[in-house]
Amino acid sequence: MLKKQVQCPTCHTTISVSGEPGEVIQVTCSTCGTAGKVTFPNQVIAKPTKAIEVMHLTKAYGGIAAVDDISFSVNKGEVFAFLGPNGAGKTTTVEMIESIRTPESGTIRILGRDIKNSFHEVKERIGILPQEFHSFERLTVRETLQYFSMLFKHRASIDSIISAMNLKADEKKVYKNLSGGLKQRVGVAIALVNDPDIIFLDEPTTGLDPKARREVWEVIEGLKQQGKTVFLTTHYMEEAEYLADHIAIIHKGKIIAEGTLDELIDAYGSENILLINNCKTDDAAEVMQAQGFEVAQHRNGDLEVKISYKDQVLEVLSHLRHECIEYDNISIRRSNLEEIFLKLTGAKLSEAAP
Ligand SMILES: Nc1ncnc2c1ncn2[C@@H]1O[C@H](COP(=O)(O)OP(=O)(O)OP(=O)(O)O)[C@@H](O)[C@H]1O
Ligand SMILES: [Mg+2]
Repeated sequence: MLKKQVQCPTCHTTISVSGEPGEVIQVTCSTCGTAGKVTFPNQVIAKPTKAIEVMHLTKAYGGIAAVDDISFSVNKGEVFAFLGPNGAGKTTTVEMIESIRTPESGTIRILGRDIKNSFHEVKERIGILPQEFHSFERLTVRETLQYFSMLFKHRASIDSIISAMNLKADEKKVYKNLSGGLKQRVGVAIALVNDPDIIFLDEPTTGLDPKARREVWEVIEGLKQQGKTVFLTTHYMEEAEYLADHIAIIHKGKIIAEGTLDELIDAYGSENILLINNCKTDDAAEVMQAQGFEVAQHRNGDLEVKISYKDQVLEVLSHLRHECIEYDNISIRRSNLEEIFLKLTGAKLSEAAP
């Protein structure tokens, strides 16, 4: 029941009216007797802007929590990176969202629907590239896509996927003869056979060489341009930095930080870093430290000086000149996710153990 207050057009008395959405109510002013109609508009149900909502999700193996009461959401149309080291709980989480594993507790909504009750509908709208993806060795690329396409009611055109994934030259090759990078592209292509709204890619670039990794990145950028939502798991911070609109860092089953790259850097990053390449003076670090700078020295002779404010760069350079410290080059870089992870966990992302 909706409530509305209207004014009598004759005597301006305020009249309270109740009605259902879409109902037209006949009203008579109790003061002057003027009659009129009040319309209650049909309620517009706001479309959910969230592609995925995860609330208090938990899963343990043998009493040990692999995913420990995590909550987060993914907006429609964004590339969401779930970043964490080996064993952090990425695959367990993503496979619970995909209904492959059963949560111990928690709620998962995809496109506004609780997957407990409506996974058969939701399944038509998602595409999945599992972490350890393999396909039929003796099927060609085209046959592979045709096969997987048959599993869905709503299907994208195979030709359009082959062209979008740049697989035209290889469509007649059998899967087992493809390079690792191409196999992975076929894996992404399979995830698109039902023209999904949301695509889950579990470590799509692990083990690929830099060129093949770039090619997969281009594919992901293309998906975003088409308005798809991409849920990407990765342990490569540069992948998350390059691709993601929104990043959640998972460590030991818990989300330890979440936001855009800029938000994460603002919240947890340190200052900018001035990198001085190949310092020719052995005690350069001590000299700079004595001047009050926070300095880290690498074995190769590079120095990293933390910069807290813009003019500090000039101060560092002036000290280098004053102390006659020679070097090859300088550059400035922002804090990155590796530093943020180190700050939050005390371990390097690349080295963190589960
Ligand atoms: N089926 C299982 N049975 C028992 N333990 C499991 C199972 N699956 C995962 N685990 C454990 O749960 C934890 C999280 O594993 P998960 O595979 O989710 O991590 P991940 O972040 O995907 O790691 P990776 O980057 O290596 O893929 C790990 O300690 C792992 O050993
Ligand atoms: Mg995994």
